[in-house]
Amino acid sequence: MTRAIIAALMEPTRNPVISATGLFTPEHSISNEELVESFNRFVDRHNSAHAAAIAAGETEALTHSSVEFIEKASGIKARHVLAKEPVLDPDIMAPRWDARGNDELSMMAEIGVAACRQALERAGRDVADVDAVLCAASNMERGYPAMAIEIQQELGIDGFGFDMNVACSSATFGIQTAADYIRAGNARSVLVVSPEITSGHLNWRDRDSHFIFGDVATAVLVEDAALAPADHWDILGTRLKTVFSNNIRNNFGFLNRAVPETEGDPDKLFVQEGRKVFKEVVPMVADMILTEAERLGLDPENLRRLWLHQANAGMNRLIAQRVLGHEANDDESPTVLDTYGNTSSAGSIIAFHLHSDDLEPGDRGLICSFGAGYSAGTVFVQRVG
Ligand code: COA
Repeated sequence: MTRAIIAALMEPTRNPVISATGLFTPEHSISNEELVESFNRFVDRHNSAHAAAIAAGETEALTHSSVEFIEKASGIKARHVLAKEPVLDPDIMAPRWDARGNDELSMMAEIGVAACRQALERAGRDVADVDAVLCAASNMERGYPAMAIEIQQELGIDGFGFDMNVACSSATFGIQTAADYIRAGNARSVLVVSPEITSGHLNWRDRDSHFIFGDVATAVLVEDAALAPADHWDILGTRLKTVFSNNIRNNFGFLNRAVPETEGDPDKLFVQEGRKVFKEVVPMVADMILTEAERLGLDPENLRRLWLHQANAGMNRLIAQRVLGHEANDDESPTVLDTYGNTSSAGSIIAFHLHSDDLEPGDRGLICSFGAGYSAGTVFVQRVG
């Protein structure tokens, strides 16, 4: 045997798999009833404070929100948040907490670390064997240093970390990036962590969207199969797609101070054209899943479970139906948005984390995200154990 062949045989397998996942859920939850009661109090106060201008036709009266609408239009019944009281206080309607010093762990790092620790524990992984941390989320707490490096430091990982933002698709883009590091031999064990403090970018005073989001953190440990625990998920294939759209947008950014008159502008929070998103994203994602399944030689109708992005129950119903060829039941396409709301990139990972233990070795499924960008990511997996 030549030296090159011996060296190749000694190389690790470079076959990326999912070893384990972790989930941090904030203690506090807000029901639709609580949320609507607070929103409607804000509306009543606003309308009475502006009664003269409304009567004179100079400004429009605000309209009440409704529990029935929220549940029917989105499927959301509650959402977890890191700071419940200020969000429900009609005078604030935003999360609030004490500023943290540079020597204290930041908010995103704190909840990210909690999710990572659970993933490491479930995999039986020693941090000494982890090479990298990718913090993949819709919003970052600061420009730099990267959240991922702070999380890496707190966990005691010797390696590298960086942040990536692909909005609701951040986690699946992170999984493919981690898998590519493993395929290239640049890492053997990578944490993809998605701390989503979406309560910070949500406009809690906007009737059209005030009910959408919730806070959470997830972690996915992507590893070389040779290192992974016996019970893991083979990654059969990953595919990413982006198509520019202004229909989901958040204009907050460090250059906002260059345009001082826009400070406090609701445009610097999450905004969307929900109907357009619904109509444009459903076919884009269904086609992407079917094309990728074909490329991988998989029959989509034989997928045991779909762990779809958790934004809207109606979107998931339509996508699942097109993929599976029939109306999916809860077992085939589990829902977590009813209690978590839309948790951006973490949604499909929460669904996978909470609803995958019952699958048998050989069962195949799909983790799929979609959202702002537009962006979409598919991760086809198969249970091994
Ligand atoms: N309470 C009561 N009524 C409300 C309301 C509220 N909070 N918000 C809107 N409405 C009303 C509207 O005024 C409108 O009334 P009209 O028909 O008299 O004009 C009606 O309900 C329908 O509004 P619309 O915004 O068209 O609702 P929808 O059925 O499209 O549902 C979303 C809204 C946002 C739930 C839905 O479009 C959606 O989830 N889309 C996908 C969004 C998504 O995935 N985004 C990704 C984010 S990352």
